[in-house]
Amino acid sequence: MSFDTIITRRGTGSIKWDRRPDLDPYWVADMDFTSPPAVIEALKQRCDHGVFGYAHPHESLEDTVLTYLREQHGAELTAESLEHLGGLVPALSLIARAVGEPGDSLLTCTPVYYPFLHVAKDAGMDTLTVDHIYKDGQWRFDWEALEQTVRPDTKLFILCNPQNPLGRVFEEAEILQLAEFCQRHHLLLVSDEIHCDLILDAKQTPHFSALRLPENYRENLITLMAPSKTYNIAGLGYAYAVIENESLRRRFAVAKGCTLPEINLLAMVGAEAAYKHGESWRQELLLYLRKNRDTVSEFVRTELPGVSTPWNQATYLSLLDCRELDIKQPALHLEKEAGLWLNDGAAFGAPRQVRFNYGCPHARVLEGLEKIKTAFSSYLQ
Ligand SMILES: Cc1ncc(COP(=O)(O)O)c(C=O)c1O
Repeated sequence: MSFDTIITRRGTGSIKWDRRPDLDPYWVADMDFTSPPAVIEALKQRCDHGVFGYAHPHESLEDTVLTYLREQHGAELTAESLEHLGGLVPALSLIARAVGEPGDSLLTCTPVYYPFLHVAKDAGMDTLTVDHIYKDGQWRFDWEALEQTVRPDTKLFILCNPQNPLGRVFEEAEILQLAEFCQRHHLLLVSDEIHCDLILDAKQTPHFSALRLPENYRENLITLMAPSKTYNIAGLGYAYAVIENESLRRRFAVAKGCTLPEINLLAMVGAEAAYKHGESWRQELLLYLRKNRDTVSEFVRTELPGVSTPWNQATYLSLLDCRELDIKQPALHLEKEAGLWLNDGAAFGAPRQVRFNYGCPHARVLEGLEKIKTAFSSYLQ
């Protein structure tokens, strides 16, 4: 299949397309592409078996995940350190409950994927945030503000690497500095790396997984991963946490208790096939997303004066900064004026910004951008 193919998703029970059928969707982070043929074939074969009882993370899935972690991230791990999950957001909530008490706090940097800002509530904890700062042409950590904000009751730091919605891939030195910060303040480092196989220019900006940190930092680390974003199988629901420290694993298991269902059988079949057979498809996808990223970036620069966007090093999500336009709620404006649905940056801690999903055929990217231009026309500078 070509990534140019427009596939009708409306009426398929898609959150993106069916929650508000009156709007043209460029919001939630899934793509309008079919998954790799090998994934679809593996799912069909499993369906042909016809028995769909409770599923177990089977050995070949574990082997595949361990091989992926070794080959892609240089991490030599055993199956014991894997916690298989139906999704990462519940894992974030579980982790907060595993290490925090009511009245404690968690720390994260904004703007960020919005559930990071809500999971503390599940544990009765406070959320502390520090804005990323734009320095030397990059979004960076504000180390000074982090030192000022962290409290004695802060129990964990949640990192988004690569960063959603800034599209930034943090460098090794930054991850090391963050690990050192966490160690000094006795914080669990939680590294959400769900977008780590969507690095658009891996030669220039390689992903540095927290799994590569020196051993002393990995004692207090949980790394969250999934093939779901990359291979567009988020609706199946499979993810995993890597927890090398045994006592941390026990706390995670206690917090989990009976709260989570068994993992969807097809999700695990799809995940295995994606990691095992999806690499050439992924390379083609990255080529396509690079073209879309370049288009978005160029269009914003030349056609949307007063709007700016960070250069996406990863993901298929662009944050469009509209603060220089005289529009109080740009997401609402785009909805009312153009029938578009983009994520409101306010939810990520980025008010008067919107997140544009370009994980779709190029023609749809252009169509969305043209609609944005028309809706903003009397406000552009
Ligand atoms: C950084 C990040 N973490 C987690 C998720 C969602 O993960 P899951 O669908 O496994 O709950 C997303 C989805 O956009 C995300 O961007």
